[in-house]
Amino acid sequence: MNKTSINDCVILPLTKIHNRAGNITVIDGKKHLLFDIKRVYYLYDIPGGEGRGGHAHKALFQLIIAASGAFDVLLDDGQNKKIVTLNRPDVGLMVVPGIWRELLEFSSGAICLVLASTVYFENDYIRKYEDYMNYKNLPV
Ligand code: TYD
Repeated sequence: MNKTSINDCVILPLTKIHNRAGNITVIDGKKHLLFDIKRVYYLYDIPGGEGRGGHAHKALFQLIIAASGAFDVLLDDGQNKKIVTLNRPDVGLMVVPGIWRELLEFSSGAICLVLASTVYFENDYIRKYEDYMNYKNLPV
């Protein structure tokens, strides 16, 4: 998974069931995603100016959703970078393995919902950028 690029990370419009009393968005496992959901977690109460992430994963796929509020996801494959702003609960960003990511510019009250393809496994993380560039076989 060290050959992936930021172009493999796609923005997925999610189904929205609307009626006069509001909306429901459903993510129906493999019907909508390229992976089985093994874990769900969410980030919240993020202090102003703080960032999260700052790591890559070797095998983990994730769908990242702004369940409330907004934030930016910086995607970096060692050669190219891009920033995706998430600000709607009916849009997800699929992040494939082998991509360095940082989560930035959280709005007040933002909730970052993450659907993940594996259970938590610390050995799947690459937490130092230098190690990440080595993993990608790129010069530091
Ligand atoms: P981390 O993934 O580094 O957070 P972020 O990318 O949002 O900055 O995780 C932060 C801490 O939480 C770290 O000590 C590991 C722990 N953690 C778990 O125990 N289980 C999990 O599923 C996750 C995502 C994190």
